[in-house]
Amino acid sequence: MKPRMIVPDVHYVGAPDFDRKLFDALIPLPDGTSYNAYLVSGRDKVALIDTIEPKKLPVLEAYLASVPRIDYVVSDHTEQDHSGSIPWVLERYPQAQLLSSEPAKSMLADHLGLDPAKIRAVADGERLDLGGKTLRFIYTPWVHWPETMSTYLEEERLLFSCDWFGSHIAATDLFVDGADCVKAEAKRYYAEIMMPFRKTVQKNLEKIKDLEIRLIAPSHGPIYRDPRSIIQAYRDWTDDTPHNTVVIPWVSMHGSTEIMVDRLVTRLVERGISVFPFNMASADIGQLAMALVDAATIVFAAPTVHVGPHPMVFNAVVLANALRPKARFASIIGSYGWAGKMPEMVKAAMTVLKVEHLPSVIAKGLPKPADLEAIDALADTIVAKHREIGVL
Ligand code: FEO
Repeated sequence: MKPRMIVPDVHYVGAPDFDRKLFDALIPLPDGTSYNAYLVSGRDKVALIDTIEPKKLPVLEAYLASVPRIDYVVSDHTEQDHSGSIPWVLERYPQAQLLSSEPAKSMLADHLGLDPAKIRAVADGERLDLGGKTLRFIYTPWVHWPETMSTYLEEERLLFSCDWFGSHIAATDLFVDGADCVKAEAKRYYAEIMMPFRKTVQKNLEKIKDLEIRLIAPSHGPIYRDPRSIIQAYRDWTDDTPHNTVVIPWVSMHGSTEIMVDRLVTRLVERGISVFPFNMASADIGQLAMALVDAATIVFAAPTVHVGPHPMVFNAVVLANALRPKARFASIIGSYGWAGKMPEMVKAAMTVLKVEHLPSVIAKGLPKPADLEAIDALADTIVAKHREIGVL
């Protein structure tokens, strides 16, 4: 199998994974994923940019069968879907030097058992001349691990961004023109992987703003031939101002909480707010994560199981804590039979979200007219808060 040309002297040696359905044993991958690796060949030296998930190593082996020499292996990111095949590459090419960011040295040792003495840390901004092809290493921390860096091929104005700007898509086509056709998948990827580090993503966007970029070759999903729209999408997603939207992760056991959710959805829509309800009994948590990227308000809606919140809504709180969305407001609604402390327990679990807590509404059994009026009042409060921050 011959390496596939991206531009002259730059080749693709990665692998699509059509069968992978979960990442990190957590995140649904409806479109599979890919593990992209690239060869850059100068007149004098050859560099391999990242490797691939070890379970796809036979694909990399087949590509490299026709490659007699690799002088440098660049590890932009230590997570094993990119670094996991480095030990095999170093065994096949014993003269190759492994390059990484400084923080990656110990991480590569921790995760792969590599000898840190054999890894050369490159400095932020350092250049490496391969002979007519110049790699520039740009530290881009926290996209999405502390050690992540990007590699810029100056002559081609090509940014190897690793996870940053990636998308979980398995495809045989290598390129996408513009980003519109993969924006949903790229947003899902951003939401699940990058959103917790939104502020550092902003800083990294600022860092590359003057870099002339003709191509972005991430380590998951297609290569962008016109990267402007994916860069702009990242600017939008990381912007501090949320949208005029409300996300409602909910679950209902006997219908009471569902009645309250339906009432709230109706009242919010009547007042000009977009609402994204997710029944946690069946929701795709990737879609929930995507909705959390923009939401100004999150309303958790849970019935009470025994004496506490339904665990599926607790799961949504844990997910929101992990993803740290930019939401400004939160509320809790739901129902109970005999133990009415559910809202306090959900609120106590919101340990990471920096939100203003709006009044909770909890109904004993079926919601009564007064409960539904309280839901209407909550809708009015949300409208007022969205107006206050200028999104409605
Ligand atoms: Fe694609 Fe963070 O690994």
